[in-house]
Amino acid sequence: MDTVFRLAVMDDLPALLALELRCFATDRLSRRSFRRMIERAHGQLRVIESEGQLLGYALVLFRRGTSSARLYSIAIAGTARGGGWGKRLLQHVEACAAEHGCTHLRLEVRIDNPVAIALYERNGYRRFGLIHDYYEDHTDALRMQKPLP
Ligand SMILES: CC(C)(COP(=O)(O)OP(=O)(O)OC[C@H]1O[C@@H](n2cnc3c(N)ncnc32)[C@H](O)[C@@H]1OP(=O)(O)O)[C@@H](O)C(=O)NCCC(=O)NCCS
Repeated sequence: MDTVFRLAVMDDLPALLALELRCFATDRLSRRSFRRMIERAHGQLRVIESEGQLLGYALVLFRRGTSSARLYSIAIAGTARGGGWGKRLLQHVEACAAEHGCTHLRLEVRIDNPVAIALYERNGYRRFGLIHDYYEDHTDALRMQKPLP
C-alpha cells in the first residue's frame, strides 16, 4: 500500500471536513480554520494519504517566543483505527515540531477519551494539568506534554 505523510493542501478540504464531522461530536475545526491552517498561518496541518484516501490528520501549532509546540488536533478515520496510524502520525508531527526547533509538544485531551489518553501515554506524554470546563460541552481537559529530542 502506497502511503504518504504530507502537508495538507486545499484539495484536501472536503475530506478533512468529512473526517472532522465523523471523528468529533463537539469543538470541531471549521472550514475556515482548516483553510487558515493549510495556508500555514502559524502551524502545520499534516495528513496521511493512502491510495487517494485521507486516513487522518494532525494539526500542530507553533507560537513565537516559546519552544513548545501544541498538538491542537489529531484524528484517524474510523475504518483505519487500531492499525498504528495514530502512533505513526504522532511520531511524524513530533519530528516536524523538533525540526521546527521546538523542545516540547503539548496537548489537551478530553478526560473521557481513554483511547487517546492511552495513545499519548504509551508514546511518552506525561500529565501536567487539568483545565475545568474546557470543551464546548463543559468536559474537562487533561494537559499532557512530551520533551522532544
Ligand atoms: C485517538 C486516535 C487518533 C488513535 O488512532 P489509531 O490509529 O487508532 O491509533 P493507533 O492504532 O496508533 O494506536 C491506538 C492504540 O490504542 C489501541 N486502540 C485502538 N482503538 C482502540 C479502542 N477502540 N479501544 C481500546 N484501544 C484501542 C490500539 O490497539 C493501540 O494500542 P497499542 O499502541 O498498544 O498497539 C483515533 O482513535 C481517533 O481518531 N479518535 C477520534 C478522534 C480523537 O479522539 N482524537 C484525539 C483528540 S485529543
